[in-house]
Amino acid sequence: MGKRCGRVSDHWVWCGGAFTDGRASRAVRGERARNVKSLSMDALDLMRVGPVIPVIVIDDLAHAVPLARALVAGGVRVLEVTLRTRVALDAIRAIAREVDDAIVGVGTITRAEHFQDAIDAGAQFGVSPGLTNQLIDAAQASRLPLLPGVMTPSDVIAARAAGFFALKLFPAQQAGGIGMLKALGGPFPDVTFCPTGGVTADSAPEYLALPNVACVGGSWLTPHAAVKAGEWKKITDLALEASRLRPTAART
Ligand code: 3PG
Repeated sequence: MGKRCGRVSDHWVWCGGAFTDGRASRAVRGERARNVKSLSMDALDLMRVGPVIPVIVIDDLAHAVPLARALVAGGVRVLEVTLRTRVALDAIRAIAREVDDAIVGVGTITRAEHFQDAIDAGAQFGVSPGLTNQLIDAAQASRLPLLPGVMTPSDVIAARAAGFFALKLFPAQQAGGIGMLKALGGPFPDVTFCPTGGVTADSAPEYLALPNVACVGGSWLTPHAAVKAGEWKKITDLALEASRLRPTAART
């Protein structure tokens, strides 16, 4: 299916979930493409790489590369490293440099300056728990593919008006879970979600069965104790299980 494209301002063209600079010369676009490894993938493409995007908290920089390798070995390639620890950006930098098959992004984007920090570290996409005008401007300026968080119909309307059609429902379970996503599917048939927050290995298949869900996010693939103990085989096993998850109709 062709990508939905349209000019959203004199400057920006929205195409299939990503902004392109309508005025940029080919040379400028090439330069930007070199700075961000995977500009050809937009947020929706990223959501379709696998059924689960792990939400990762890295406390110890030494864990970054083996953890990413363990997840990739289990078939989980799209990794969201949250900006919740002081080593997060260095962890992203190390993963981007050393784990070829990983597609590493930055999570917990809450400030405009996080976009440039993330790009400088080599992040290939961003995830935010919500969306503000400042974040919209920064996302457009940075051209980092962004998966923005929404929790209400008004949030969805605002995100869509800014050109975002691939959204993270956050916190998904607390927002109403499966029922909320079914309800949102009526007024917003053109929006695809990655529910995150309170999703588990058990509940993921029901989410994945919904027509407006492309993937789910969650922290269960990287339990704190296993990461701290360097139990990489355990992480790979959890990733294997996650990468094999398939949609299952809701239990009644
Ligand atoms: C988070 O922000 O920590 C994510 O939403 C993960 O939530 P979870 O721990 O419930 O999977």
